[in-house]
Amino acid sequence: MQNFMYNTPTQVFFGRGVEKEIGPQLKARGYKKIMLHYGGGSIKRTGLYDKVTESLREAGLDWIELGGVAPNPKISFVRECLKICRKEQIDFILAVGGGSVIDSAKAIAMGLANDKDPWEIITGGKMPEKTFPVGAVLTISAAGSEMSNSHVITNEEIHMKRGLNTEMVRPVVAFMNPENTFTVSPFQTGCGIVDIMMHTLERYLTPDEDAILTDRIAEALLVSVKEAGPVALKNPEDYEARSTLMWASSLSHNGLTGCGKTFGFTVHKLEHDFSGVFDNIAHGAGLSVLFPAWAAYVYKDNVKKFARLAEKVMDIPVGEDEEATALAGIQAFKDYFRSLGMPVTLGELGVPADAYEQIANLTTANDTKKVPGFRELTKADLLAIYKLAE
Ligand code: NZQ
Ligand code: ZN
Repeated sequence: MQNFMYNTPTQVFFGRGVEKEIGPQLKARGYKKIMLHYGGGSIKRTGLYDKVTESLREAGLDWIELGGVAPNPKISFVRECLKICRKEQIDFILAVGGGSVIDSAKAIAMGLANDKDPWEIITGGKMPEKTFPVGAVLTISAAGSEMSNSHVITNEEIHMKRGLNTEMVRPVVAFMNPENTFTVSPFQTGCGIVDIMMHTLERYLTPDEDAILTDRIAEALLVSVKEAGPVALKNPEDYEARSTLMWASSLSHNGLTGCGKTFGFTVHKLEHDFSGVFDNIAHGAGLSVLFPAWAAYVYKDNVKKFARLAEKVMDIPVGEDEEATALAGIQAFKDYFRSLGMPVTLGELGVPADAYEQIANLTTANDTKKVPGFRELTKADLLAIYKLAE
């Protein structure tokens, strides 16, 4: 096991009725004027907006509202909101939504605290020393931003999606009621399941082998999500399945399943340029296509680990031939993603072959940088992976 730092400062309120805690908790922390941030309107349709505002009102808190965050959140909207937040002198940002809304809130918070352009903060290479407090009311189990140390924003003018990881951006508090995910569509539920699994798989599939406790936690999470997924798709109001997915969303990306392991995240790096260039691509759908192709390309670097994954998560017996088991495991993941209704080829994702060059150039800075991780990948490697994903 390698040395590690584990930091999960987010206070979590989990379960039915936790919306009632929002106002009292923010008040107890001394906040007075909240910026309520949300997406395209699902929270109004589901009634969650009413519950959140009622809780703020009852606690005597003042708030302003900035709704309209788009999936794959855009820097132009972050900048617009930032201007308003500066003028309004808010002291807390409450993101009510999924990864896109929470990430937008994190970017605004960084801009606000440092009086700097949020895109420059993400891409400028100089890490700020402070941010502004953010809380989350989670409505979709997927990105894990409710406890994660990262935020991902798209600069739509240059079709570039980039993230920044820093301990500062972990939300201070998260309110998670699985009932608030009952209305998530089957497609977004599938995207979420893939994303949750990927946050753990990217930590599990590393060249090192010796963080046994962490790996077993990872396997338990993957099996639990694998089982809960089809149940939630069949019955969107199954509280237990939605609870498993919601808690797994957080645990998969708060660092727990990576303690003592090398940090990779290669497939995420590849995917972000797909959903950056093609705004209609949902992050989880991109991962669903790229993971099996990436795995088929690199598994030989650690056949043992891929075989263990196949056995522990996909119930494939390890026979004499470890390599056959590893390959059967990769195929089982692909079949599982397909069974969730997810795309598993670039064609299904709507990516034409003539876009490959542009995307590979973006990821490798025009073939000048390798993608780090499980195996360092060059532009030629990426093009070969895209071919496998066709
Ligand atoms: O905008 P609204 O109307 O709320 O609709 C959303 C959106 O259209 C809808 N939705 C959310 N909750 C719902 C609901 N619809 C019905 N009922 C509900 N309860 O779902 C759609 C997708 O929402 P979004 O927030 O985009 O999904 P997700 O949580 O998957 O977030 C994706 C974003 O997070 C980034 C991704 O790259 C992507 O931009 N990621 C962020 C990470 C982080 N900060 O740690 C890590 C991830 O790897 C990921 O990169
Ligand atoms: Zn992800």
